[in-house]
Amino acid sequence: MIEPQCCDDGDEHETLPLPTLPPMPRERVPLQKSSICSRSYFMVVMVFFHVYIINVIVLLLYVHYNNGPGDVLATQNRDQASGGSNHHKPPESHQQPSYSGFQRDMYLPRLEGIRVGHVQKVSLVPDKVHEMRTLSLKPLLFEIPGFLSEEECRVVVQLAQLKGLMESQVMVPEGQEELTEQLNLSPDEIFNLLDLNQDGQLQLQEILTHSRVRDGIWLTPENLREIYAGLKADPDGNGLLSLEEFRSLDSNAFQRFLQQRGVKSTQLVRNSRHTWLYQGKGAHQVLRDLKKRVTRLTRLPSALVDLSEPLQVVRYEQGGHYHAHHDSGPVYPETACTHTRLAANTSTPFETSCRYITVLFYLNSVEGGGETAFPVADNRTYEEVSLIQNDVDLMDTRKNCDKSNLRVNPTKGTAVLWYNYLSDGQGWVGEQDEYSLHGGCVVTRGTKWVANNWINIDPDYQRQARYQQLVSQQGEEDAEDEGEQSQPSPEQLHTADSHREL
Ligand code: OGA
Ligand code: CA
Ligand code: FE2
Repeated sequence: MIEPQCCDDGDEHETLPLPTLPPMPRERVPLQKSSICSRSYFMVVMVFFHVYIINVIVLLLYVHYNNGPGDVLATQNRDQASGGSNHHKPPESHQQPSYSGFQRDMYLPRLEGIRVGHVQKVSLVPDKVHEMRTLSLKPLLFEIPGFLSEEECRVVVQLAQLKGLMESQVMVPEGQEELTEQLNLSPDEIFNLLDLNQDGQLQLQEILTHSRVRDGIWLTPENLREIYAGLKADPDGNGLLSLEEFRSLDSNAFQRFLQQRGVKSTQLVRNSRHTWLYQGKGAHQVLRDLKKRVTRLTRLPSALVDLSEPLQVVRYEQGGHYHAHHDSGPVYPETACTHTRLAANTSTPFETSCRYITVLFYLNSVEGGGETAFPVADNRTYEEVSLIQNDVDLMDTRKNCDKSNLRVNPTKGTAVLWYNYLSDGQGWVGEQDEYSLHGGCVVTRGTKWVANNWINIDPDYQRQARYQQLVSQQGEEDAEDEGEQSQPSPEQLHTADSHREL
């Protein structure tokens, strides 16, 4: 081959056609070299070569320092018999344990949704294959028909009846007035707290959110206008409260007005009764089988499932509902999880339930209504403000279930599973998945029975690990005392109902 004329400054277009070689392909053709030309060529090649080497060195240094102390997780799952093929394993790494010297030995496999409508076969019990259908990707949500047999549904309902169910939500909580007095907040300060979007006015939405979160009272925009009229709170009638208008209101006028008017159970965030059924050692075989099945379904380490909340059985009468909510709270650095509070710093100011996964069982087929609604499932974006617009409140499951993006029909024996948190990309719990917003639509005919199996995992890995360590130590001590192996029951670990509005 003839070397190109590298140094010809002349116009490329004028380059003469290259002379064709005589047919002697195997013989080397002596190169015609001009001394200037070959030196420059050599220089260019050397410059490129050096730049290349420097690039490689810089790249190696970058990789080295990034993987050094701190970030890398050598995660593996010793607890888990690896059966499933579609686990999300974090990339294997042979680096040193992380900065704190704490090595993760648990990771959380996640099921794969593939696409909406995708059906995968799952093996949960001997001699039967279940089908699991993807219902949405945001949140990651599945439906498994026939997860429980008819007989199992009957047993769970009867056990709950035997135990007795309590009202899921009490009426207007008392003591709010005292709290305000103790804090001694000025009307301006309260106004500022309520003004979520900080535009100097209180929109109907801001008051509604406040009364739902703090008091569990589900006011509609119409209710609120009525209350404003009763209190003459909004003389210009524009539906907004200015600071002036707010100042002229007595701080507890609102509360007093509600108490005088009375709040019906249909005006609460939820209108149902529930109880808790322990699923550990000594529990009814059906309850223990269900836990085992849930462990297989979720593919999570059994220790995590074992230390989760007991089964919550819920009954809705005709007219019962549960407005849209998240089963779990958002992750803030100052938030502690209810289930790991044993291992938490007691000074953490906020506590929330950390329910990584919800597995919801339908224990009967409802005659009318009672669907589980996911108002924003698979929406392109999540905007809290657009949930209540033009008086259409997508969170209202008494009125607007028909406008929800997704509704699951309550069918006896079916289970639905969804993730309330995203993955952190490294095999642990990440951000709360806001799309997991859901609620129980009003039951228009008959009764509705469901059960919740929540899998509690602390987004703070170390706190979860510490908690598990504490529990196993306590289990060993108890075993020494009693001469047998035992663990504290989840009922001892979880106080009454931690499923509060979040
Ligand atoms: C719940 C819940 C939905 C339903 O109990 O937390 O969201 O359909 N239930 O009952
Ligand atoms: Ca505002
Ligand atoms: Fe829920």
